[in-house]
Amino acid sequence: MEIRPSKESDIPQIFLLESRCFSDPWSQKILRSTLREEDCFFLTAEENGRICGYLNTTHILDELSIHRVAVLPEYRRKGVGTAMLTRMMEFCQDKGLKQIFLEVRQSNLNAQRLYSRFGFEQVGERPHFYQNPDETGLVMRAWVPSPADTAAEKEEP
Ligand SMILES: CC(C)(COP(=O)(O)OP(=O)(O)OC[C@H]1O[C@@H](n2cnc3c(N)ncnc32)[C@H](O)[C@@H]1OP(=O)(O)O)[C@@H](O)C(=O)NCCC(=O)NCCS
Repeated sequence: MEIRPSKESDIPQIFLLESRCFSDPWSQKILRSTLREEDCFFLTAEENGRICGYLNTTHILDELSIHRVAVLPEYRRKGVGTAMLTRMMEFCQDKGLKQIFLEVRQSNLNAQRLYSRFGFEQVGERPHFYQNPDETGLVMRAWVPSPADTAAEKEEP
């Protein structure tokens, strides 16, 4: 599996992935215009020419916001989400970003488990943040670890 920056030619497959993973998929038009923004960071996970996951963020000052993390159902629980978030953390370290925010559906315990592994903690909640179905969004934040801390973690047995 390869994790790489997304490109415009990925958009049709990313749109299909959005449609399979979310009840409120982003349109191709919005995906394309977001990808062109200077402060966006998109990652594509690809296996044998098929896009199986993607991550979509924007950053401003020292903060990054995660908008989407999605993996096709048949590729889940194989570490694709973890690989994309690991690459995103490296990007944050390279850019000197300090903190990362995201919203997640209150009922989405699977995603919350994944995020907590990367140090995300709940810092707030937004009632009615989601539609279709209406649901509270939990606001989660993680501090970007220093590269030295990440290296020390890798050395631990
Ligand atoms: C959330 C999502 C991105 C996880 O992707 P993934 O590639 O399956 O994640 P990983 O394989 O790296 O899983 C890492 C850890 O997350 C947790 N996790 C992920 N999916 C889980 C599940 N179905 N049940 C329980 N724990 C789960 C586990 O702790 C898992 O580690 P483990 O497999 O060693 O137990 C994927 O399930 C998805 O696309 N869901 C639909 C879209 C979505 O909800 N996105 C998040 C919106 S905020």
